Amino acid sequence: MKTNPIISMIAAMDENRGIGYQGRIPWHIREDLLRFKHLTTGKTVIFGRKTYESLLGYYQRSGRPMPERKTIVVSRTIGSNETHGIHWANSIEEALVLARKIEPEEVFISGGAQIFSQGIKYAEKLYLTIVKGKFQADAFFPDYSDFKVIKEEKKSYEKYFFKFIELIK
Ligand SMILES: NC(=O)c1ccc[n+]([C@@H]2O[C@H](COP(=O)([O-])OP(=O)(O)OC[C@H]3O[C@@H](n4cnc5c(N)ncnc54)[C@H](OP(=O)(O)O)[C@@H]3O)[C@@H](O)[C@H]2O)c1
Repeated sequence: MKTNPIISMIAAMDENRGIGYQGRIPWHIREDLLRFKHLTTGKTVIFGRKTYESLLGYYQRSGRPMPERKTIVVSRTIGSNETHGIHWANSIEEALVLARKIEPEEVFISGGAQIFSQGIKYAEKLYLTIVKGKFQADAFFPDYSDFKVIKEEKKSYEKYFFKFIELIK
């Protein structure tokens, strides 16, 4: 019997809920990237087209940024189809319908700002990294005050102090 996957969101933000500046994440915290990898490997990730293209820049040689994950990219301008193992969807709702078909366990809405703000009403669980400080940012995570923290772990890496938190509705 097929069960519905959990719909989760995963994001790293500063104390102002800033998540990006000029298309990039304002910090580089290896442990956070490893957490993303650990949580999402083998599962399904949903990205907005801009975040997907910025990831392509990092992974230019392979031509496919997330090889161990089922990837859905949301775009109004690129038609829904499958290319190079990437699924395209014309809205977050279409992405979630597709995700429920291909993912039995957990779907991670993974940014950026537009996709987080449209997707948060569908999220049951949040995995957040809160980086201490206020960074220059032009992209923000939406208000998530109706979620409650169920797990919290304090961390540090080089000059950064941060915490990993998990929240549910
Ligand atoms: N810190 C973090 O955890 C984290 C994670 C991810 C991203 N980021 C940051 O977030 C920033 C990018 O965020 P962003 O808001 O500019 O872009 P984005 O959400 O990644 O992508 C926006 C694009 O998604 C598509 N889209 C949005 N809403 C749609 C809808 N309802 N239906 C169909 N397509 C839709 C459009 O693509 P088309 O233009 O193709 O139609 C739109 O241009 C960057 O700075 C990045 O580094 C941070």
